[in-house]
Amino acid sequence: MSIFGSYKGMPETGVDEAALIKELEDVARQEDAFWQTGKCSGTMYGGDPKVYDLIARIFRSYSHVNVLQRDMCPSQTRFEAEIIDMTLNMMHGDEAKTDGNEPCGTINSGGSESILCAMLAYRNRAKAEANITAPEAIIPSTAHSAFRKACHYFGIKEVVAPIDPITTQVDMDFVRDNINKNTVALVGSAGNYPYGTIDPIEELSTLALERSVGLHVDGCLGGFILPWGQELGYDIPDFHFRLPGVTSISADTHKYGYGPKGTSVCLYRDKSLRRHQYFMDPAWQGGTYLSPGIGGSRSGGLIAATWAVMYKLGREGYLQKSDAIFKAAYAMQDIVKQIPELRLMGTPSFCFSFTSDEFDIYHVNDFMKQRGWRFNGQQFPSALHMCVTGPQTQEGLVGEFGNDLTDAVSYAKNPPERVPASGALYGGQGTQATASDIDFERLTKRLIQYLDATLTLPE
Ligand SMILES: Cc1ncc(COP(=O)(O)O)c(C=O)c1O
Repeated sequence: MSIFGSYKGMPETGVDEAALIKELEDVARQEDAFWQTGKCSGTMYGGDPKVYDLIARIFRSYSHVNVLQRDMCPSQTRFEAEIIDMTLNMMHGDEAKTDGNEPCGTINSGGSESILCAMLAYRNRAKAEANITAPEAIIPSTAHSAFRKACHYFGIKEVVAPIDPITTQVDMDFVRDNINKNTVALVGSAGNYPYGTIDPIEELSTLALERSVGLHVDGCLGGFILPWGQELGYDIPDFHFRLPGVTSISADTHKYGYGPKGTSVCLYRDKSLRRHQYFMDPAWQGGTYLSPGIGGSRSGGLIAATWAVMYKLGREGYLQKSDAIFKAAYAMQDIVKQIPELRLMGTPSFCFSFTSDEFDIYHVNDFMKQRGWRFNGQQFPSALHMCVTGPQTQEGLVGEFGNDLTDAVSYAKNPPERVPASGALYGGQGTQATASDIDFERLTKRLIQYLDATLTLPE
């Protein structure tokens, strides 16, 4: 619960504005101080105060605008179309046009919603065009939880594809063997959240074409950095519309696109698939209702600020920021590779995970926490993930990582307690929730209690 105290109920009269602004600015400053050290994995993808100022300025002019009322804000229709166009440009959408397709996209509230929309589109298309009533999707175990959420919400059977434990890429034989008449889509990540590695998208693309199924590439995390990395000459394979079997891609403007939190793009190879994510209710008493995605009203502030960041940075800005991140990420990986007790997982790039075959890696986490580091914990097997972002590109940070990690390994070889204090709860780093706990029923009850507590004032 909040370390800044809390109020109960609505104040009878509004509070003093200057005091209010001061209080919230103080809180934000204190919270920001942590990630500004550069010791935090992921989450703050840009960390550039100039970009944040631009976002705040543009947001001020458009925060009150509702994109759903399009007649009142033609600017938003323009911004959305241009964000999609820039993203298509980055993903080689032009190359998809050769087979008569019309590449296109939608803007959503985040990566999860882009994934939900794509999976909904695959399910609905399969029902409309092939009367598939028991849809299935083949999803690598490393693919983001949002795919499970989509299957759960939309009644799609999730066929979980295992990964090769060494490469951490999806097992292609499993995918091949499990496609059947109900398969509506295959999924691959570029890169996946647990290890930052990229599935064999080219092989998935070939298979998807051979078997006439859709292929969604999840580039929520890597979509706005891997294309630049490819252009910079780093060893990154094609994962976008250059591959003819790729039918949709999610890419988050609010991650390495450096926009405000609350936007993501879902691209489609062709308009004929996109329309299956639309919602239309022509018979409603409130008037004919339609929305391209799951959300209803949306703030124009987010769209305008995202557009502004993309235009401000341009290709050059993205290339520069990406290069600095790739350099820091590979330097950090070299440090991990030099420590014999640690093992880098697969062949990652901007985001990587490591584990140990000699001790519980969460001992390393316990120690690194004391030195101010916040990694993301992985499970099955236990591992620590570092998603390298702008704040890690600051002077001296990689060296500090190396020194602290070396000390952490000494600590982990002879820890004071047998069981480490930290574990792997997404977004709740350091909470002893899941690392070795596989009683899922009990765990689910605890997670419900945890969520309830986050939504309730303390007594
Ligand atoms: C690979 C991947 N896909 C999807 C998502 C979901 O994105 P969001 O949290 O914006 O919904 C994430 C989030 O980290 C991710 O890493």
